[in-house]
Amino acid sequence: MSTTLIKNGTVVTASDRYDADIYIDKGVITMIGKGMNIPADTVIDASGKLLMPGGIDVHTHLDMPFGGTTSADDFESGTIAAAHGGTTTIIDFAIQSFGEGLYPAYDAWMKKAEGRARIDYAFHMIVRELSEQASHDMDKMTRNDGVTSFKLFMAYPGVFQVDDATIFKALLKTRENGGMVCMHAENGGVIDTLVKEALMKGQTAPKYHALTRPTRAEGEATGRAIALAEMAGVPIYIVHLSCSDALEKVKQARDMGLPAYAETCPQYLFLSYENYEEPGFAGAKYVMSPPLREKWNQAVLWKGLAQNDLQVVSTDHCPFCMNEQSQKLLGKDDFSKIPNGAPGIETRLYMLWEGVQKGFIDQHRFVQLTSTSPAKMFGLFPKKGTIAVGSDGDIIVWDPEKEHTISVKTHHMKVDYNPYEGREMMGAPAYVLSRGDVIVDHGEFKGEKGRGQYVKRQAGHPRL
Ligand code: URP
Ligand code: ZN
Ligand code: ZN
Repeated sequence: MSTTLIKNGTVVTASDRYDADIYIDKGVITMIGKGMNIPADTVIDASGKLLMPGGIDVHTHLDMPFGGTTSADDFESGTIAAAHGGTTTIIDFAIQSFGEGLYPAYDAWMKKAEGRARIDYAFHMIVRELSEQASHDMDKMTRNDGVTSFKLFMAYPGVFQVDDATIFKALLKTRENGGMVCMHAENGGVIDTLVKEALMKGQTAPKYHALTRPTRAEGEATGRAIALAEMAGVPIYIVHLSCSDALEKVKQARDMGLPAYAETCPQYLFLSYENYEEPGFAGAKYVMSPPLREKWNQAVLWKGLAQNDLQVVSTDHCPFCMNEQSQKLLGKDDFSKIPNGAPGIETRLYMLWEGVQKGFIDQHRFVQLTSTSPAKMFGLFPKKGTIAVGSDGDIIVWDPEKEHTISVKTHHMKVDYNPYEGREMMGAPAYVLSRGDVIVDHGEFKGEKGRGQYVKRQAGHPRL
């Protein structure tokens, strides 16, 4: 284990800003000071750069079977791409199989990640049926294995959707064990009916994915999920919130003092329904759930981020290739067969930094949304999510002046398009450090194969 000294940077955390040097020993920050002249194995000059805690992406789907195919990035390519964009920890979703408890999925996802991941990782569990075994496993995982959050779906009937009784029982479990329910909040019954109706009318193009998933279906489910959590007396976390209708429900709950939390994703802040109108089958690039919304929702979401009605920006990275028969093309003649999801694990910080440049959020809020609040929400803080003595040396040396263009030609995700193709950006990492190791050096990846470590998370309900 080596030592690293970062000199002359400006530390930016969720709360502070100061000029400092940082010394990392055996992966952990042991000193923060000024004018430090200590020998170290690696010395980085960070003059003119910002030192921010490594990004934490709490919503990824690597190597995930979905819709008859598998997401295009595995734990190797996905974590390399994440690191290039300044993310040093991910939380991925392991999926329970029908007829099984939760441990077979946990073991399977461990196998997918071990020896491949180049940054640190943790897991949420997707609960598809709350059998006695699954219920027992929720407690055991929370207690012993650092899996403290459980995603349930109110949509995708026959695949993921569970009923209100199941949701309520899962919520009650978290009251006992200190875990957290993460909710995919869309009304699956309404959507399924609208999808069947559209297909009967011959409406098969990608845009009908969006037109059959109205914002009210997300708003209704969000309100219902929060009401169920209120009745159970526990917090709830709404994943990939996309629109004003749903945000209103979160706001109302928070104004009442309820512990309701939500994340949004860059795609909902920068893309819109208009993308589905791109020629031919191109709209399939943006087929995800919830879908992209009318543009005016973006300003509402930015306001939600600035005012802490939304606490986290994650990616919901779930990439499928456009030009492979077995991926997005599965839905060439039927939008309902297009695998849901889009890439974003590499571009999250770039996109959100644009929000800083435009004055929608400040640098501290940027850190809070991309690192500190995700860490606090999901039991990683203060090991991750800040720059402090005792925290892991997960640090982005951020060059706010760096100009670059997002493109499939230069990105590191294993997918054949980028939803932000050609977008000119300012701000990128000069270096990315994971537990003190320089894993990205001016665009070159340096992290060793399989160096990523599983991180056990703490249970306990946040207050954010
Ligand atoms: O379209 C999406 N969001 N795909 C990933 C699965 C999910 O619901 O998060
Ligand atoms: Zn979801
Ligand atoms: Zn997802």
